[in-house]
Amino acid sequence: MQNTIQQIKNNLENDIKFSKHCDSWFYKEHVLVVERLALELCDFYPKANRDAVILSVWFHDIGRAHGYDKGHDVYGADYARKTLTENRFDKDFVDLIVEACKTHSCKENGKSNSLEGKILATADALSHYHNGFYLRVLYSWSKGNKGDYQKLKTELFKKMKRDLNEKIFFDEVREKIKPMYEAWQKVVEEVVCK
Ligand SMILES: [Fe+2]
Ligand SMILES: [Fe+2]
Repeated sequence: MQNTIQQIKNNLENDIKFSKHCDSWFYKEHVLVVERLALELCDFYPKANRDAVILSVWFHDIGRAHGYDKGHDVYGADYARKTLTENRFDKDFVDLIVEACKTHSCKENGKSNSLEGKILATADALSHYHNGFYLRVLYSWSKGNKGDYQKLKTELFKKMKRDLNEKIFFDEVREKIKPMYEAWQKVVEEVVCK
Protein backbone atom coordinates (compact mmCIF):
# COMPACT_ATOMS: atom_id res chain seq x y z
CA MET A 1 0.00 0.00 0.00
CA GLN A 2 2.83 2.42 0.85
CA ASN A 3 4.40 1.79 -2.56
CA THR A 4 1.13 2.52 -4.31
CA ILE A 5 0.62 5.71 -2.30
CA GLN A 6 4.14 6.84 -3.18
CA GLN A 7 3.57 6.03 -6.85
CA ILE A 8 0.29 7.96 -6.94
CA LYS A 9 1.94 10.88 -5.18
CA ASN A 10 4.83 10.84 -7.67
CA ASN A 11 2.43 10.92 -10.60
CA LEU A 12 0.47 13.84 -9.13
CA GLU A 13 3.70 15.65 -8.27
CA ASN A 14 4.92 15.37 -11.86
CA ASP A 15 1.58 16.57 -13.22
CA ILE A 16 1.80 19.67 -10.99
CA LYS A 17 5.53 20.30 -11.47
CA PHE A 18 5.36 20.21 -15.26
CA SER A 19 1.87 21.62 -15.80
CA LYS A 20 1.55 24.33 -18.41
CA HIS A 21 -1.54 25.59 -16.58
CA CYS A 22 0.23 26.54 -13.31
CA ASP A 23 2.73 29.29 -12.59
CA SER A 24 6.19 28.06 -11.62
CA TRP A 25 5.74 28.95 -7.92
CA PHE A 26 2.66 26.78 -7.54
CA TYR A 27 4.47 23.48 -7.00
CA LYS A 28 7.25 24.65 -4.68
CA GLU A 29 5.54 27.50 -2.91
CA HIS A 30 2.04 26.13 -2.61
CA VAL A 31 1.63 22.37 -2.79
CA LEU A 32 4.93 21.47 -1.10
CA VAL A 33 4.22 24.05 1.61
CA VAL A 34 0.69 22.71 2.13
CA GLU A 35 2.15 19.21 2.48
CA ARG A 36 4.73 20.34 5.06
CA LEU A 37 2.13 22.26 7.09
CA ALA A 38 -0.40 19.42 6.88
CA LEU A 39 2.18 16.94 8.18
CA GLU A 40 3.03 19.30 11.04
CA LEU A 41 -0.67 19.41 11.90
CA CYS A 42 -0.78 15.60 11.80
CA ASP A 43 1.91 15.64 14.51
CA PHE A 44 -0.31 17.90 16.63
CA TYR A 45 -3.44 15.84 15.92
CA PRO A 46 -2.09 12.28 15.79
CA LYS A 47 -5.53 10.69 15.33
CA ALA A 48 -5.48 11.91 11.73
CA ASN A 49 -4.81 9.33 9.03
CA ARG A 50 -1.47 10.58 7.62
CA ASP A 51 -1.77 8.66 4.35
CA ALA A 52 -5.20 10.18 3.73
CA VAL A 53 -3.85 13.64 4.53
CA ILE A 54 -0.86 13.25 2.19
CA LEU A 55 -3.02 12.02 -0.68
CA SER A 56 -5.58 14.78 -0.05
CA VAL A 57 -2.80 17.35 -0.32
CA TRP A 58 -1.64 15.99 -3.68
CA PHE A 59 -5.14 15.62 -5.11
CA HIS A 60 -6.67 18.84 -3.77
CA ASP A 61 -5.41 21.23 -6.46
CA ILE A 62 -4.71 18.72 -9.23
CA GLY A 63 -7.58 20.29 -11.16
CA ARG A 64 -5.56 23.50 -11.45
CA ALA A 65 -2.64 21.52 -12.90
CA HIS A 66 -4.99 19.81 -15.37
CA GLY A 67 -6.45 23.12 -16.54
CA TYR A 68 -9.68 23.15 -14.55
CA ASP A 69 -9.20 26.15 -12.30
CA LYS A 70 -12.89 26.75 -11.76
CA GLY A 71 -14.47 23.80 -10.03
CA HIS A 72 -11.05 22.33 -9.23
CA ASP A 73 -12.33 21.11 -5.84
CA VAL A 74 -14.83 18.76 -7.44
CA TYR A 75 -12.40 17.82 -10.21
CA GLY A 76 -9.79 16.82 -7.59
CA ALA A 77 -12.38 14.84 -5.64
CA ASP A 78 -13.54 12.96 -8.75
CA TYR A 79 -9.97 12.34 -9.89
CA ALA A 80 -9.06 11.03 -6.43
CA ARG A 81 -12.07 8.67 -6.41
CA LYS A 82 -11.21 7.32 -9.86
CA THR A 83 -7.49 6.87 -9.17
CA LEU A 84 -7.84 5.38 -5.69
CA THR A 85 -10.70 3.07 -6.64
CA GLU A 86 -8.71 1.78 -9.60
CA ASN A 87 -5.91 1.05 -7.15
CA ARG A 88 -8.29 -0.90 -4.90
CA PHE A 89 -8.14 1.24 -1.78
CA ASP A 90 -10.89 0.75 0.84
CA LYS A 91 -14.03 2.74 0.21
CA ASP A 92 -13.85 4.49 3.62
CA PHE A 93 -10.29 5.60 2.92
CA VAL A 94 -11.26 6.84 -0.55
CA ASP A 95 -14.32 8.68 0.82
CA LEU A 96 -12.13 10.49 3.35
CA ILE A 97 -9.85 11.87 0.62
CA VAL A 98 -12.72 12.66 -1.74
CA GLU A 99 -14.53 14.66 0.96
CA ALA A 100 -11.35 16.53 1.96
CA CYS A 101 -10.63 17.55 -1.65
CA LYS A 102 -14.22 18.53 -2.39
CA THR A 103 -14.53 20.80 0.66
CA HIS A 104 -11.02 22.28 0.86
CA SER A 105 -12.11 25.76 -0.28
CA CYS A 106 -14.83 25.88 2.40
CA LYS A 107 -17.20 27.54 -0.06
CA GLU A 108 -20.11 26.18 -2.08
CA ASN A 109 -19.21 22.54 -1.42
CA GLY A 110 -19.44 23.01 2.34
CA LYS A 111 -16.91 22.32 5.03
CA SER A 112 -15.22 19.10 5.97
CA ASN A 113 -16.49 16.98 8.83
CA SER A 114 -13.34 14.91 9.08
CA LEU A 115 -10.11 15.67 10.92
CA GLU A 116 -8.19 14.99 7.70
CA GLY A 117 -10.32 17.46 5.71
CA LYS A 118 -9.95 20.08 8.43
CA ILE A 119 -6.19 19.61 8.38
CA LEU A 120 -6.12 20.04 4.58
CA ALA A 121 -8.23 23.23 4.61
CA THR A 122 -6.19 24.65 7.50
CA ALA A 123 -2.85 23.90 5.83
CA ASP A 124 -4.17 25.36 2.55
CA ALA A 125 -5.06 28.61 4.37
CA LEU A 126 -1.83 28.70 6.39
CA SER A 127 0.25 28.37 3.22
CA HIS A 128 -0.77 31.94 2.32
CA TYR A 129 1.14 33.22 5.35
CA HIS A 130 4.32 31.53 4.22
CA ASN A 131 6.57 32.13 1.23
CA GLY A 132 5.30 35.62 0.48
CA PHE A 133 1.97 34.77 -1.13
CA TYR A 134 0.68 38.31 -0.61
CA LEU A 135 3.95 39.84 -1.79
CA ARG A 136 3.54 37.88 -5.01
CA VAL A 137 0.00 39.21 -5.46
CA LEU A 138 1.14 42.77 -4.80
CA TYR A 139 4.16 42.40 -7.08
CA SER A 140 1.95 41.13 -9.92
CA TRP A 141 -0.35 44.08 -9.39
CA SER A 142 2.54 46.56 -9.48
CA LYS A 143 3.98 44.98 -12.64
CA GLY A 144 0.65 44.67 -14.39
CA ASN A 145 -1.72 47.39 -15.49
CA LYS A 146 -2.25 48.48 -11.86
CA GLY A 147 -6.01 48.24 -11.65
CA ASP A 148 -8.01 49.85 -8.86
CA TYR A 149 -5.90 49.35 -5.72
CA GLN A 150 -8.86 49.88 -3.39
CA LYS A 151 -10.61 47.00 -5.12
CA LEU A 152 -7.54 44.77 -4.79
CA LYS A 153 -7.18 45.75 -1.13
CA THR A 154 -10.81 44.89 -0.41
CA GLU A 155 -10.36 41.50 -2.13
CA LEU A 156 -7.17 40.73 -0.21
CA PHE A 157 -8.74 41.67 3.13
CA LYS A 158 -11.71 39.47 2.30
CA LYS A 159 -9.41 36.57 1.45
CA MET A 160 -7.34 37.03 4.60
CA LYS A 161 -10.48 37.10 6.74
CA ARG A 162 -11.92 34.06 5.03
CA ASP A 163 -8.70 32.09 5.42
CA LEU A 164 -8.54 32.97 9.10
CA ASN A 165 -12.17 32.49 10.05
CA GLU A 166 -13.53 29.94 7.58
CA LYS A 167 -10.59 27.71 6.67
CA ILE A 168 -8.50 27.47 9.83
CA PHE A 169 -10.37 24.94 11.93
CA PHE A 170 -8.26 24.86 15.07
CA ASP A 171 -8.44 27.69 17.63
CA GLU A 172 -4.85 27.26 18.77
CA VAL A 173 -3.59 27.43 15.18
CA ARG A 174 -5.69 30.55 14.52
CA GLU A 175 -4.24 32.22 17.62
CA LYS A 176 -0.71 31.33 16.56
CA ILE A 177 -1.07 32.76 13.06
CA LYS A 178 -2.90 35.94 14.13
CA PRO A 179 0.26 38.11 14.37
CA MET A 180 1.08 37.18 10.75
CA TYR A 181 -2.49 37.95 9.70
CA GLU A 182 -2.28 41.37 11.34
CA ALA A 183 1.14 42.02 9.83
CA TRP A 184 -0.05 41.30 6.28
CA GLN A 185 -3.11 43.49 6.84
CA LYS A 186 -0.76 46.29 7.86
CA VAL A 187 1.42 45.79 4.78
CA VAL A 188 -1.57 45.93 2.46
CA GLU A 189 -3.20 48.82 4.30
CA GLU A 190 -0.35 51.07 5.36
CA VAL A 191 2.76 50.35 3.34
CA VAL A 192 1.67 49.66 -0.20
CA CYS A 193 -1.24 52.05 -0.36
CA LYS A 194 0.78 55.16 0.50
FE1 LIG B 1 -7.66 24.83 -4.12
FE1 LIG C 1 -4.43 24.70 -2.42
